[in-house]
Amino acid sequence: MKDFNYYAPTEVVFGEQSEEQVAHLVKKHGGTKVLVHFGGQSAVRSGLLDKICGLLREGGVDYVTLGGVVPNPRLSLVHQGIELCKKEGVDFILAVGGGSVIDSSKAIAYGVCYDGEVWDIYMGKDHPTKMLPVASVLTIPAAGSEMSEASVITNEDGDVKVGYSNNLARPKFAIMNPKRTFTLPPYQTAAGVTDMMMHTMERYFTKDDDMDLTTDLAEAVLRSMKNAVFAVLKNPEDYRYRAQIMWGGSLMHNGLTGCGVRDDWATHQLEHELSGMFDVTHGAGLAAVWPSWARYVMHENLSRFVRFAVNVMDVPNDFTDPEGTALKGIEAMERFYHAIGMPINIKELIGRDITDEEIKGMVGKCSRNGERTVGCLKVLEAKDMETIYQMARG
Ligand code: NZQ
Ligand code: ZN
Repeated sequence: MKDFNYYAPTEVVFGEQSEEQVAHLVKKHGGTKVLVHFGGQSAVRSGLLDKICGLLREGGVDYVTLGGVVPNPRLSLVHQGIELCKKEGVDFILAVGGGSVIDSSKAIAYGVCYDGEVWDIYMGKDHPTKMLPVASVLTIPAAGSEMSEASVITNEDGDVKVGYSNNLARPKFAIMNPKRTFTLPPYQTAAGVTDMMMHTMERYFTKDDDMDLTTDLAEAVLRSMKNAVFAVLKNPEDYRYRAQIMWGGSLMHNGLTGCGVRDDWATHQLEHELSGMFDVTHGAGLAAVWPSWARYVMHENLSRFVRFAVNVMDVPNDFTDPEGTALKGIEAMERFYHAIGMPINIKELIGRDITDEEIKGMVGKCSRNGERTVGCLKVLEAKDMETIYQMARG
């Protein structure tokens, strides 16, 4: 069993009345001048942004606003945010939105306290020791950024999408009102559940399979999400299951389902090149890659894939044929993705055949021109990445 530190400092304030506490929480966590950061339209349209700003005013908290974050958040807006925060003396960033808004907030928070170019941090040239505090009012359960140490930013110059992790970036608090997720379109709901499940699957498919408690927890949350998603796709205003999904998204990426194991993350790294190049929804990109990754690596720990098939995907165990059972688990996952409206290959994801040239481009970026490997269950070199992309082309 691998030694581990479990660090999940984010204060979670969950429920229908949670937003009412926003001014109190900002002050409690040291904020005096806030940047309220948000996305395209949803938070404006639903009235959430007005409500949060009103509550901050009533609570005597000064703020400025910056909207316009797009899915796969861009570096150029991060630069604007840094400038605005410096000009206005902002000391706290409140993200009102999903993973993209929270990640953009984290990048701004690094940049305000950093003398150099913030992109250098994402390029691994520096590891900052300070940043502004960040918190969120979450509107889409998916990325898990509301409790995670990670943020992922896209540099438009070359369409490079890169993640960076630092425990400093774990948000101070997360306000989660499941009712705010009633307005999510089915595609975003399904992509969100796909992403959160993958955050646990990246930790579940490991060679360290001696941490039974972590494995049991992982299987339980995977089953919960798999069932809950159908309830909310059928009835988007099902509070009970919207709530399970909202809390599940945080639990699946705050480290809990990774204690004592070495995590993999190859599917995420392969997907980041897809959303970097084609600007697709991250969760959908994961669904397009995972089945091919799984078929390519399953022999590295076949019994794990059998366990997944039986305990998560309800496949009967054919004890005489572990490989067949494992494959049936992957096929069942593909049926699940299709049933919730997700793609299972790149053609379904982008709506056309991907070219060999584009695959080569993604391999070059993912492997940093052959300098980087990804994954852990099976360490993937550039040639492995190319094979998986070819298997996934559809
Ligand atoms: O921009 P608006 O109009 O708000 O629309 C958003 C956006 O189009 C919409 N939306 C959000 N809440 C809504 C809503 N629509 C209706 N009702 C609501 N309540 O949903 C769309 C997607 O939002 P986004 O924030 O992009 O979604 P998500 O939370 O999936 O974040 C995706 C980003 O997070 C990164 C991904 O790579 C991607 O860039 N990730 C971040 C991680 C982290 N920081 O730990 C880990 C993840 O693996 C992931 O890589
Ligand atoms: Zn993800």
